[in-house]
Amino acid sequence: MTKIEKIVLSYSGGLDTSIILKWLQETYGCEVVTFTADLGQGEELEPARAKAEMSGVKDIRIVDLREEFVRDFVFPMLRANALYEGQYLLGSSIARPLIAKHLVGIAREVGADAVAHGATGKGNDQIRFELAVNALDPSIRVIAPWRQWTIRSRMQLLEYAEKHRILVPSDKRGEAPFSIDANLLHTSTEGKSLENPTEVAPDHVYQRTVDPIDAPEAPEIITIGFDRGDPVSVNGKAMTPAALLTELNGLGGRHGVGRLDLVENRFIGMKSRGIYETPGGTILLAAHRGIESITLDRAAAHLKDEIMPRYAELIYNGFWFAPEREMLQALIDHSQAFVSGEVTLRLYKGSASVISRASPCSLYSADLVTFEESAIAFDHHDAEGFIRLNGLRLRSLAARNGR
Ligand code: ARG
Repeated sequence: MTKIEKIVLSYSGGLDTSIILKWLQETYGCEVVTFTADLGQGEELEPARAKAEMSGVKDIRIVDLREEFVRDFVFPMLRANALYEGQYLLGSSIARPLIAKHLVGIAREVGADAVAHGATGKGNDQIRFELAVNALDPSIRVIAPWRQWTIRSRMQLLEYAEKHRILVPSDKRGEAPFSIDANLLHTSTEGKSLENPTEVAPDHVYQRTVDPIDAPEAPEIITIGFDRGDPVSVNGKAMTPAALLTELNGLGGRHGVGRLDLVENRFIGMKSRGIYETPGGTILLAAHRGIESITLDRAAAHLKDEIMPRYAELIYNGFWFAPEREMLQALIDHSQAFVSGEVTLRLYKGSASVISRASPCSLYSADLVTFEESAIAFDHHDAEGFIRLNGLRLRSLAARNGR
């Protein structure tokens, strides 16, 4: 084992990373710098500082990354309408490359030779962190304590905490908490009873959305403004990316929008069941598709839809900083030049439905599509020839196959 001089740890102040901090200090006997990213997880970050201080950390970094997260990661992904396996809005997946980018930046700044994270050996997050570090600075080593130490379960983790007098957080009911990952885009909850997919998730796993059954009886109408593919305003009020997503999280949460109970295929190989809450992201996906529906050409829109699953899988699997993701991003971004205008949605008992859309760049022509008489030249006889030629092959096939 080569000697490590200094480590930058991705540190939340929660149970796992508190134990990891202690373990790194003991195992490597070197300085550990902690890095805590504010991604809008809705948690007080000052306790993380206090805890790091108590563990003897001298260089404590707490950085507000909310705007960068939404502007440079969430919005570009949203331009693609990205969904993994048809349903997951990738709330944890998209945060990892950003955290890794800052871990690497701090490591360079303080002259650290390694970064460390608290992701386990069974999950996707270790892959995402480490592929990003590989892409950004291959000279920096990655330490993943969960793959190195002898602790093998949450039970053993709790025992280690007790032995080293590390405070064990508990949920509101005094139980060990679920495994939760939260940021401005989503809250993801895994573990404990959720590991049994035949069991219905208990009500108390939900953190930021009401049960649609208990949502207000009155629907709420909202309007979202888009500029070249990115949302820029809510109800006519211009907002920064993070402020806008925060606003929509509040609105969506109150109406029970964006709950998802999902069994997904992890990159590492197993299936896992999780509960996701993505209120603002769910509204934005519907709204973005709404504005694209009038501003994108058909072939452009269909091409986007074809590459979307591939693009989503790249993000899920941790290839944000890979050339193929950047190539697809260039294609997606190019398509958004005219995706501007306003979309109005109705939030009602768990749903976010587009009810109208308008754009100065609209390709929609009521005059062209109307059932009524229209001034636009459209020769109905052209349709006859169009169908006759498209049907040519089918008539040949039918003749041969004797249908
Ligand atoms: N399964 C999700 C993903 O891979 C979430 C992972 C982190 N969530 C958690 N509760 N630990 O993107």
